Amino acid sequence: MIVGIGIDLCRFSRIRALISRKPGQLTRFATRILHQSEWAEFQRLTGENHDADHTHGHSNQSTVISRPLTGEVSDAVVRYLSTRWAAKEAAYKALFPHRLLTWKEVAVVKRGNEAKNDAVEKSSSGPLSKNAQKRLLKAQQREARQEERKAFFRAHRKARKVRRRELIASGTVPTPPPRKQKFGGVQTDITVVLDMAFDHLMTDKEIISIASQVTRCYSVNRVAEKMVSLMATGFGGRAKERLERANDAKDWKGFAFEEKSYLDLFPKDRLVYLTADSDNVLETLEDDKIYILGAFVDRNRYKGLTYQKAQEQGIATAQLPIGKYLKLTTRKVLTVNQVLEIMLLYLETGDWEKAMLQFIPHRKLLTAQPAQPSASTDATLTENSETPSGEKCASPVNNS
Ligand SMILES: C[S@@+](CC[C@H](N)C(=O)[O-])C[C@H]1O[C@@H](n2cnc3c(N)ncnc32)[C@H](O)[C@@H]1O
Repeated sequence: MIVGIGIDLCRFSRIRALISRKPGQLTRFATRILHQSEWAEFQRLTGENHDADHTHGHSNQSTVISRPLTGEVSDAVVRYLSTRWAAKEAAYKALFPHRLLTWKEVAVVKRGNEAKNDAVEKSSSGPLSKNAQKRLLKAQQREARQEERKAFFRAHRKARKVRRRELIASGTVPTPPPRKQKFGGVQTDITVVLDMAFDHLMTDKEIISIASQVTRCYSVNRVAEKMVSLMATGFGGRAKERLERANDAKDWKGFAFEEKSYLDLFPKDRLVYLTADSDNVLETLEDDKIYILGAFVDRNRYKGLTYQKAQEQGIATAQLPIGKYLKLTTRKVLTVNQVLEIMLLYLETGDWEKAMLQFIPHRKLLTAQPAQPSASTDATLTENSETPSGEKCASPVNNS
């Protein structure tokens, strides 16, 4: 008898992100979703040899609970867990609302493998001590209670949604206004290139920082009043791997990734490398220009590197007009996302000072220079003070 049909799709990258979030997460995830009969295959894929474990000389769930798996998760493990997850979700949907299943109640059995699974299970299940049995039982009961609770609330939420839809359809409840558009405003003709050809100069920690700065660039541009065309060039190596694995960069819309250099993509006379070390000060942002930002984190190890690179390539350079409006306690080197955020706010307001006050961390500010008289420059800013307009300074994603 067919009670219902359930379908579920699951993206591998989602499961990978879920199980890589923190140490021990893979074990926790597997413990929560796998049926007893699925453990042998899972342990084979993770390469865990539980026979070598003296306290638990058997291959069952309690062994894995006692020793979290660590290290890089292989594609095979991600695929195994993702397919189990999707199948269990599909089974849940098929039986809903007649029966509220928990993940662990569902096992995916490949035809022809039942006998093999049985054999594995029989040969691997040694006797457990009484204490170990009690612990295992308690853990399983706790898990089951949690799953039940979750299943209950999930069903409750689903029923509430169905009920609300019915009320809207019958006119009892007014139709809600359409959701706010996700994307920002007007697309300008300005292009900003994030030059990512510095992978080899960064530590692993800095790679993580630059990946979150690039992600921030992508997300702020998406919601900006005036958006720029954003792209990454010299894309490859660890930063690429990090952005695609942890930040889902493959799914980004309106952001181009290029392995090539900007030199292979644009005419030289349109390129301007933005660098704090340039003698030229940016007056405004021009439509036909392509502004390049050095997408790297170096904690001041490579002073003047982008300036030198641009000089060697014969490209124009410019720095943000920070010195024209503000005095800083430190060098005027900002993170790549701070520079882009300043550019975006300048495009929106036409006001460099306002844009910089919003995104330069207050700890870097010494005074506001009265060089350019404006409504907001008559106030003196001391370190860590508020901006004249009382706005809070946005904190950078990461230090440069
Ligand atoms: C953390 S900085 C990298 C510093 C690096 N030592 C260098 O040589 O550029 C990241 C990038 O943000 C941009 N940037 C930072 N401060 C800037 C400023 N004051 N004016 C223009 N661009 C700036 C530059 O493109 C720079 O490469």
